[in-house]
Amino acid sequence: KSSGQSRGDGMMGTDSDDSRTPPEPNSRNAPQLLNSSETRDRLQRESKDNDAALPRFCLKKYDEGTVQGHINFLTSEPYSDRYFDILETRKSLPVFAKRRKILKLVANHSVTVIVGETGSGKTTQIPQFLVEAGYCSVPGAKPYMIGCTQPRRVAAMSVSKRVAEEMDVAWGKQVGYSVRFEKKAGSETVLKYCTDGMLLREAMTDPLLSAYSCILIDEAHERTLSTDILLGLLKGLTVSRPHDFKLIVMSATLDAQKFQGYFDNAPLLQVSGRMFPVEMMYLQQPATDYFEETIRTAVTICTNEPPGDVLLFLTGEDEIEDAVARIESELEGTEDMCGPVTVYPLYASLPQYEQQRVFDPAPGPSKPGGRPGRKVICATNIAESSLTIDGIVYVIDPGFSKQKLYEPRARSESLQVAPISRASANQRAGRAGRTRPGKCFRLYTELAFNTVLEETTFPEILRSNLSMVVMHMLKLGIRDLVHFDFLDPPAPETLLRALEELVNLGAINEEGELTRTGHMMSEFPVEPEMAKMLVASSELGCVHESLSVAAMLSTSGNVFLRPKKAAKAADSAKRKFTHSSGDHLTLLNVFHAYKQTGKENGKEKDRATWCWENYLNHRTLKSADMVRGQLSGIMQKCGLLDVDRTPPTSQSTSSHFRRVLASIACGYFMRVAFRQGGNKDASYLTVMDHQLVGTHPSCTLTHRPDWVLYQEFVRTDKRFIRTCSAIEPDVLLDASPEYYNLDLFPEGSIKNELQRVARRRKK
Ligand code: CDP
Ligand code: MG
Repeated sequence: KSSGQSRGDGMMGTDSDDSRTPPEPNSRNAPQLLNSSETRDRLQRESKDNDAALPRFCLKKYDEGTVQGHINFLTSEPYSDRYFDILETRKSLPVFAKRRKILKLVANHSVTVIVGETGSGKTTQIPQFLVEAGYCSVPGAKPYMIGCTQPRRVAAMSVSKRVAEEMDVAWGKQVGYSVRFEKKAGSETVLKYCTDGMLLREAMTDPLLSAYSCILIDEAHERTLSTDILLGLLKGLTVSRPHDFKLIVMSATLDAQKFQGYFDNAPLLQVSGRMFPVEMMYLQQPATDYFEETIRTAVTICTNEPPGDVLLFLTGEDEIEDAVARIESELEGTEDMCGPVTVYPLYASLPQYEQQRVFDPAPGPSKPGGRPGRKVICATNIAESSLTIDGIVYVIDPGFSKQKLYEPRARSESLQVAPISRASANQRAGRAGRTRPGKCFRLYTELAFNTVLEETTFPEILRSNLSMVVMHMLKLGIRDLVHFDFLDPPAPETLLRALEELVNLGAINEEGELTRTGHMMSEFPVEPEMAKMLVASSELGCVHESLSVAAMLSTSGNVFLRPKKAAKAADSAKRKFTHSSGDHLTLLNVFHAYKQTGKENGKEKDRATWCWENYLNHRTLKSADMVRGQLSGIMQKCGLLDVDRTPPTSQSTSSHFRRVLASIACGYFMRVAFRQGGNKDASYLTVMDHQLVGTHPSCTLTHRPDWVLYQEFVRTDKRFIRTCSAIEPDVLLDASPEYYNLDLFPEGSIKNELQRVARRRKK
């Protein structure tokens, strides 16, 4: 039976002889113009006049055959048995029942908002529906892509793999992904999962996103920085490409009216999930140590509760690795009593194949008739809504996550462990009732839930440093930042600070236009400070070292391993690489030594052994090597690099090393601290926001230099600066005369010291 979206039903006709090519990317239609309502009206008028010249999709009638035929329409090969097995599972997802309705809404509207419980099949199914319905094919023209964004790279990779399996195609071919520093997609790709940040990057080179017919903004409720900017941009696209572009906004929370309102009353489709009741357990008294309480609860569930898998939420990699070790050791020898238990970590920097293991079924009974096993997954927020793991019955929610905080007045951005919102807490609890009734252990009191937790998570745009966003927006051609159609406009002060920072970095001029340096900087998928460091290294003649340092700083995960049982051996291994100037050049030494090892033997296995012997994380180094390759490619594209010779090693002289540090300072001159008389925890005063801080215990500096440059400001119960190197104040004055303009510099000991340096230089 034919359904709504067949021919003649709405603006997207299906006449197969009506073949047109998609419009050329056209700067006249570029989204930046849409900030004025006059332009918007004009574009709407023009597009009506040009109606006849617009491309038509080759939409199919809704027909069970599309998914049940025996030949895969993407590969022209017969479907495998596995395809039909998975198809049965897919059909049971709540979203599948709404397939026809979804396609009809999309056909008739430029923007559709879809809300559905996590696990209802939004992310994996809806993009497939669009492919099957024909949104990729324009007769006689290059096929379009469907793009689906995710706030997290883990989700983009794992979901694309799953969907490739579901569609019975090769992962990376017809279905692929694109995340920062990693892409698995090609010319055959019809469906691409990407991080919201990557799509924003694509928009920089192609403002009309002309390769895509449909974009799905997934997990919109998370309101990441990139999602918010994309929503604004894509809202413009629906006007400049009214006939060949569809936007679908998907969210897991019911708070969708906001999106509807923003998109001029776009239709809303609600997919009710299959939810079983979840029993809520609260603490009677607040927990004194949420980590200990989490371990205790996990162990109690394993020993006392009926079978069912456990999902617990912690804030980061270190905490999670600790928890895995602790739970494993506390459950040792209990197998007879509670059955076999497998404990898995799950966080963003974990390699793909290890992440994938959380989908493995729980272990079976260890002997016939024995107790069934269970799995315990220790995860970050990743498992809150972006990844659905079936079989979870128990959820442990300590009520915290790591969140970005920004104080524009102090210009300080930091990651802090902070209470989650009620919306987040409910998402977490919902993970328990997916396959049968579950239990959620909230490690806080009911009173705290009702009075301390905020209703929803504050959008990231309101708590971030916006210098990167502003740079990207300028690159996208959006000049009028203040009047950009934001879902939640950031404070003007935050925008102003961002502009100021970009001026200090030399990325924009006083008129607010990107400079030549700024254009180059925006090519790099890294923060503006690092981009500047790389651009500056070319003039300083230390491109190769700066690339290596940047790569080492860009990889997530700690390169130095320090197992508790072998802390001493690990420390002494680290000392072999230590450079007297501190952490940055120590990281460079590690990278050089790693590359040398590969050179002599050329074998991956030898490198792995070498890393193991030196207490270094092989995975981190491998990924740094890959990141370096990508950054180096961009340097080349910008003409900042002629030939990428292999990085020099020990021969490098100290003056050369000074230049490397100078290039780092050219980007990071704002993250500098000046020595104070105070104790170890308050031995430095930060230049940017006058905070008393100590150097992090992992810091390799053995002396206390007057000036240190740091990479990261960490606030736990103490205030630390992490990844620190000694820096000469001269270098700072040269790095940004705008920032270190002593006439305007705030009074105090730092200014006095800098004035002394400036006087000495004059002489
Ligand atoms: O996006 P939404 O939360 O609505 O659901 P989904 O991510 O599309 O998940 C639908 C189903 O696919 C769930 O039952 C998942 O368990 C399954 N899935 C999977 O088996 N493997 C993955 N890598 C991702 C999803
Ligand atoms: Mg999803």
